[in-house]
Formats: sequence, C-alpha cells, structure tokens
Amino acid sequence: MSASILKGKKGIIFGALDPQSIAWKVAEKCVEEGATITLTNAPVALRMGQLQQLGEKLNAEVLAADATSIDDLTKLFEQSMEILGGKIDFMLHSIGMSLNVRKGKNYTDLNYDWMQKTFDISAISFHKMMQTALKMDLMAEGGSILALSYIAAQRVFPDYNEMAESKALLESFARSFGYHFGVEKKVRVNTISQSPTKTTAGSGVKGFTEFFDYADKMSPLGNASADACADFCVMMFSDYTRMVTLQNLYHDGGFSNMGMNPAILRDA
Ligand SMILES: NC(=O)c1ccc[n+]([C@@H]2O[C@H](COP(=O)([O-])OP(=O)(O)OC[C@H]3O[C@@H](n4cnc5c(N)ncnc54)[C@H](O)[C@@H]3O)[C@@H](O)[C@H]2O)c1
Repeated sequence: MSASILKGKKGIIFGALDPQSIAWKVAEKCVEEGATITLTNAPVALRMGQLQQLGEKLNAEVLAADATSIDDLTKLFEQSMEILGGKIDFMLHSIGMSLNVRKGKNYTDLNYDWMQKTFDISAISFHKMMQTALKMDLMAEGGSILALSYIAAQRVFPDYNEMAESKALLESFARSFGYHFGVEKKVRVNTISQSPTKTTAGSGVKGFTEFFDYADKMSPLGNASADACADFCVMMFSDYTRMVTLQNLYHDGGFSNMGMNPAILRDA
C-alpha cells in the first residue's frame, strides 16, 4: 500500500524496541512511504535491543537519547538535522514506562518517587521534546508531531494504574503545546489513542490479556493492530492532515463510542 505520501520528508522516531513495538512498524511504514528518518531510544534499550538491525534495514541512523534528558534531546536533534540534512517534518513520541506497574504496586499503594519518574518518562518527556525542538527551531513549517495515548486518560481501567494519569497529562501537553507550536511555527501536535496492542509495554500491564480480549469483543471493528496504527501515523505525518491539530484521535475500532455490545453478554 505504498503511495510515497512522505516522499522527501524527514522524521525522528522515538521508542522502537523490538519488532512488536508500535514505533517499529511506524518507522518501517514511514520509510516505505518515502521518508528518511533517524531512530532513537534510551541507551539501556539500545544495549538490550534489536534497534540496530532495524536501522540497517531502513538505512536509518540509530541515536541514543534518554527522552527525559534535555542534554540528550539537544544532541539528538543536532545530530538528526545534520544526518538528515535540514529541518525535521515529523516526530513520533512512542514512550511509556511505569515503575509502579513494573514493580506490581496497586493504585492505592503507590510509591510517589516512582510515580514522578513514570510521569517524567511517559508524559513530561513529550513536553521536553517539544520545548527543546521549539527552542532549537528544529521543525519545518507544516510539520507534524504525534504521541501515542490510551483511553484510560478518560475512562477507568483499574489495572492501568498511574499510567492513566500519565496519558491524561500527555494529551493535555499535546493541546497546550500544540497551540504554541501552531501559532509560532505552523506545526501540528496530536495524540493517537490506540487499542490495547501486544507489545512489551502493553503486556506489562496486569490483566492485559483480559482487557485486550474485552476491547476486541466490544469494538465493532475489533482491536486496531500496530500495523494499522502505523498506517494512521503515516497519514498524520502526511500533508493530507495538514489542518488537524490539538486533537486526541481514537484509533480503536470504535471502542471509545460503544456503550454495550451484545457479543459480550452472549459470551459471558
Ligand atoms: N501496547 C498497548 O496496548 C498500547 C496502547 C495504547 C498506547 N500505547 C502507547 O504506545 C507507546 C509505545 O508503546 P509500545 O506498546 O509500542 O511498547 P514498547 O515497550 O515497544 O515501547 C515503549 C518504549 O519506550 C521506551 N522508553 C522507556 N523509557 C525511555 C526513556 N527514558 N527514553 C526514551 N525511551 C524510553 C522503551 O525503550 C520502549 O522502546 C507508549 O506510549 C504506550 O503507552 C500502547
């Protein structure tokens, strides 16, 4: 399904860890559609991960950056502009991690130091990325910035834990920073609220299989896959969506507007 809708565009993709990662599929599709990109992840992820292989396959430089560090972001943006030869047209923030989730803490017994770290990695990093980009005049006019979210920002999913607040913060940063980026640089900022997806971050949430199956049954189209999410991201990076900004866009097979689906009751 290639139409080269990103031909000539330059992008930075954060958060590809392994072939299951949503960002991995986005990177593949962006290149398939004609973009040139750099790939980035936290230094520790590069040591454990397979990102180098993706870089070789896509002819994309792999650059280490902890997305919570302004120094790392600054270096990453300088290197990316040099490697890609100019300003950047699109960026994907595909980063999430909760220490309380990872350590099995319940929502009513959270460690607050870990909570702050979770917010820093999963949400504040998005603000840091945009603030650093704006100060460096990184983005080309008409550019597009995206982050990935989840519907626990709006509704209760008890096992999603403090990631719910992370996503609420992330979506709010998209709106508030999107205003400034729009006015100053004509750059759009949006979040995509994606279905449960079988990835390292997704599967780390307690009860993931149950709510994956529940959402799949509740949604008229079923859960949206990582591949479908990548197609949507490509469209959001393309000029076809040049007037869409400050939005949280549901990419969930219709889940977010369902009240009841008889299929759930039938199989209960
Ligand atoms: N999987 C799902 O069910 C689902 C659903 C909706 C939204 N999302 C969101 O999609 C995004 C991508 O997650 P995924 O499901 O592809 O899982 P993933 O585990 O493949 O990706 C998460 C990434 O965050 C990176 N990361 C963690 N700390 C970092 C740091 N300090 N600096 C830079 N990178 C760091 C990890 O190395 C990893 O590559 C996340 O924001 C996640 O919350 C996932």
